[in-house]
Amino acid sequence: MARTPSTAPRAKKSPTKRSAAETPTPAPFPNELPLLPIRDNVHFPGIIFPLFVGREKSVRALDEAMAGSEHILLMAQKQVATEDPDAEDLHEIGIVAEIIQILKVPDGTVRVMLEGKERVRVTEWQQTEPFFGVKIERLPAAPISALEAEALMRSVMSQFEQIANTGKNIPPEVVVTLLNIEDPGSLADHIAWHLPSLRVEVKQELLEILDPQERLQRLSLLLTKEFEILQIQKNIRSRVEKEMGETQREFLLREQMKAIQQELGERDERQSEVDEYRAKVVEAKLPEEVSERAAKEIERLEKMPFGMPEGVVIRSYLDTLLALPWSVISEETLDVGAAEDILNEDHYGLAKVKERILEFLAVRQLAGTLKGPIICFVGPPGVGKTSLGKSIARALGRKFVRISLGGVRDEAEIRGHRRTYIGAMPGRILQGLKQAGTRNPVFVLDEIDKMGSDFRGDPSSALLEALDPEQNGEFSDHYLEAPFDLSEVMFLTTANLLDPIPPALRDRMEVISFSGYTEDEKVQIAEAFLIPKQIKDHGLTEAMLTIPEATVRKIIREHTREAGVRNFERELASVCRKIARKVAQGDTAPVVVGDTELRELLGSRKYHYGVMEELDEIGAATGLVYTEAGGDVIAIEVSPMKGKDGRLILTGQLGDVMKESAQAAMSYVRSRAEMLGLAPDFNEHLEIHVHVPAGAVPKDGPSAGITLATALASALTGRPVRKDIAMTGEITLRGRVLPIGGLKEKVLAAHRAGIRTIVMPAENEKDLEDLPENIKSEMTFEPVTHADQVLKLALLEKP
Ligand SMILES: Nc1ncnc2c1ncn2[C@@H]1O[C@H](COP(=O)(O)OP(=O)(O)OP(=O)(O)O)[C@@H](O)[C@H]1O
Ligand SMILES: [Mg+2]
Repeated sequence: MARTPSTAPRAKKSPTKRSAAETPTPAPFPNELPLLPIRDNVHFPGIIFPLFVGREKSVRALDEAMAGSEHILLMAQKQVATEDPDAEDLHEIGIVAEIIQILKVPDGTVRVMLEGKERVRVTEWQQTEPFFGVKIERLPAAPISALEAEALMRSVMSQFEQIANTGKNIPPEVVVTLLNIEDPGSLADHIAWHLPSLRVEVKQELLEILDPQERLQRLSLLLTKEFEILQIQKNIRSRVEKEMGETQREFLLREQMKAIQQELGERDERQSEVDEYRAKVVEAKLPEEVSERAAKEIERLEKMPFGMPEGVVIRSYLDTLLALPWSVISEETLDVGAAEDILNEDHYGLAKVKERILEFLAVRQLAGTLKGPIICFVGPPGVGKTSLGKSIARALGRKFVRISLGGVRDEAEIRGHRRTYIGAMPGRILQGLKQAGTRNPVFVLDEIDKMGSDFRGDPSSALLEALDPEQNGEFSDHYLEAPFDLSEVMFLTTANLLDPIPPALRDRMEVISFSGYTEDEKVQIAEAFLIPKQIKDHGLTEAMLTIPEATVRKIIREHTREAGVRNFERELASVCRKIARKVAQGDTAPVVVGDTELRELLGSRKYHYGVMEELDEIGAATGLVYTEAGGDVIAIEVSPMKGKDGRLILTGQLGDVMKESAQAAMSYVRSRAEMLGLAPDFNEHLEIHVHVPAGAVPKDGPSAGITLATALASALTGRPVRKDIAMTGEITLRGRVLPIGGLKEKVLAAHRAGIRTIVMPAENEKDLEDLPENIKSEMTFEPVTHADQVLKLALLEKP
C-alpha cells in the first residue's frame, strides 16, 4: 500500500491504530503465504482483531505462518456454510495480517490476535493441502485529491457520528478514535469494520474498492441508508414504547412499588394491619350487617396502594366502628330497695324526685322493659340533676355518660357527618357510647333546653329518633352508615327551664321538677356531703378543718345567691384550698373557721342578705320572677314624666310578653283612675318610664303583671308601696289575677331576701304544699283573685 507520510494514520494510543503508526512503510512480507479462509466476516488493514480458529486446515496454515514470516492471508468465504472451501468458494481479494499473539487452547482450537496490513489479490493457488498456499499481488491505493478527500471524510465522519448517537451498537470511544484518523482509505476501512449492521458481502465489496475516495463515497451512501433505517427503528420503538406505556406503565409502577414495599417491610405491615382488623371484627361480635360493612372496608384497605390519603379515612372509620360497644353490656342490678339506699347515700333530700325515680325503676323491674317516657329533670342550676343521674347509674350497676347539648344547632352533631366530609366524625350519641364502653349505660343529655336549630337542620328531630324507644333500636348515624341499637340505653335529660324545649321532645318526656334548696337544706347538704367531700378532695382530714354551722350559713347568705349549691360548693372548695396550702407549708394546727377566718379566706361579703328595700318607696314594687337560675326578687321602678298620651317607655331588656303585660297593667290602672283618685285624663300630659333592673339581664313572662300595676298606681298616686311585700301574678285588662309557675322557687327567693309576706294568685294556693314546713310557717301568704285586692294590700296612704 503506497502511503504518503501525510495521509498515513498517526500514532495513537488506540490499539486499533497503533500498528498503522508503527508501520508507515509497506509491510515486509513475502509474496507467498499460507491462506486462512474466514467464514463470516471481512477484515480490513490497519485494525487489530482477535480470531478463533477451529478448522484443522486453518490451524495448519497458522502453524506454517508462525514458522515463517508470521504473516498470513485472510480471505472471506463466499458462503458462510461452506465447511471445507475450495479456491472457487473464496473471494479473490483479501488482506495480509501479521500474527501478534497466538494461544493454543487444549481442545485443539487456536486464539490469535492479528493486525491487518494490506489489501492483496491471489494470483496463483500453489497448494490446497495440507493448507492453502498462495501467491499474492499487492494492490496499491489510487492517488487522491486532498481537498475532495477531506470533504468526503468530514461528511462520512459526521454521518457515522449521527449513527453512533442514534443507535446503541457503537461505543463512544470508537467515535473518538476514528476522529483522529487522517487517511481517507483507512477511515473508510475502520468505519466499515466497526459498523455491525453491514453484511459480509457489502464489507467485501468495500474491501475490493481500491480507490479511497470511491470507497468513501460508497460508504457515505451506505451510511445514509443505515441512518434512515435507524431513524425508522427509533420511531417504531418509541411508538411501541408509548403504547405500551399507557397500559403497562401503571402495572410496571405497581410492581416496582410492591418490590419497594416488600424491601421496606411495609407490605407485611399492611397485611398484619388488615389481619388485625379482621381479628378485631370477630372479637367485637358485630351484628351481621355491620360486620359485612366492616369486611368490605377492610378489603378496600387491603387493595389500596400504600400511602393513599383515603387509607387514613378507612382506618379511622374502622377504628371508630370497632371502638363502639356493639355487644358489651354491663349486667344490671335492678333492686329497688338497694337503689333507694344508693340514692340516699349520694343525695340529701330531693324526696319527691327520688320517689319518682324509684317508681320508675320499679315499673321497669316488673315490666322488664325500658320502653316508656324519657325522664327529664328540670330545675335550677346546681340542684343535683346531673349528679343524681350519676347516682342512678350507680344504683343500677350501669356505666354513666353525659353529654351537653347546650349550643348544639346542627343535626350532624347528634347524628354525625357523612364520611364524604373531611374530618367527619360520628355524632355525640355514638361518641358518648364509645366513651361508656357498654351499650346499656345511663346516658344523661344535659341542657336539652339550650339546644337551638337553624339552617343546618333540626337537632331535636335527630334526638327524638335516638330517644324514642319505638325507633331507637336502629339508630342511624350518618358517619357509621350502619344502625346501632340504642334500645338498652337509659336516657335521662336535664334542663333548667321547660319552656324552651322543642314541643315534639317535651311531649315525649316525663318531667321531674327539682326546686331550689332552702337555706336549711343547703346547710344539711353541706354538712352531710359537700364539706366532707371537699375536705377529702383537698387531701385534708376532718381534724384539720372545722366549719361551724354559723359559718356555713354565713357563706350561704353572704357569698352566694342561688337556688342550687354549685357556687356554695365552690366557695367551700375555696376555703379548703386555702387551708390545704397552709397545711402544705407546714402549719398543721387545726382551723376552726369563724367570722374573722372567713373574711380572711373568702374576703368580705359579696351579697347582702335580703334585697328588701330599706324604705317604703313611691313608684317601686317588689316582684318575684322565675328564671333559669331559679327564683329571684326584682324591683320594678316607675317614674312619670311630662309628656303626651301616657306613653310607656319600657327599659331593662324586657321580652315581648313582659312588655304587653306592662300595657295591660297600664290599661287596668287607667280603668281604676276614679277609685285611685286620679283625674280621668291624667295620662294626657304624661309619659311613663318603666324600668326593671338589672338592666343587662333579659326578662320575660307575664308573672310581673300585678307588680307592674302596683308600681304604676303608686307612682301615679304618690302612695308608697309596702317594702315587706313581694308579689307575683299575671294581670288581665280588667284586673283579674291569673296563676303563674314556679311559685315554690319564688317563695324560696323571697325568703332568702328576707321578705315574709307574699301576694300571689289564689289559684296557686295548692302549690304551697310543696314548700318545706319551716319556710311556710315563717311566711304570710295573701292569695288574691283581683288586682284591686293587691292594691289594697300593697299601697300605703299618702304620707
Ligand atoms: N341533694 C344533694 N345532695 C348532695 N349533693 C348535692 C345535692 N344537690 C346537689 N348536690 C351537689 O351539687 C353539685 C352540683 O350538682 P349538679 O352538677 O348535679 O347540678 P345540676 O342540677 O346538674 O346543674 P346544671 O343545671 O347547672 O347542670 C354536685 O356536686 C352535687 O353533688
Ligand atoms: Mg347538670
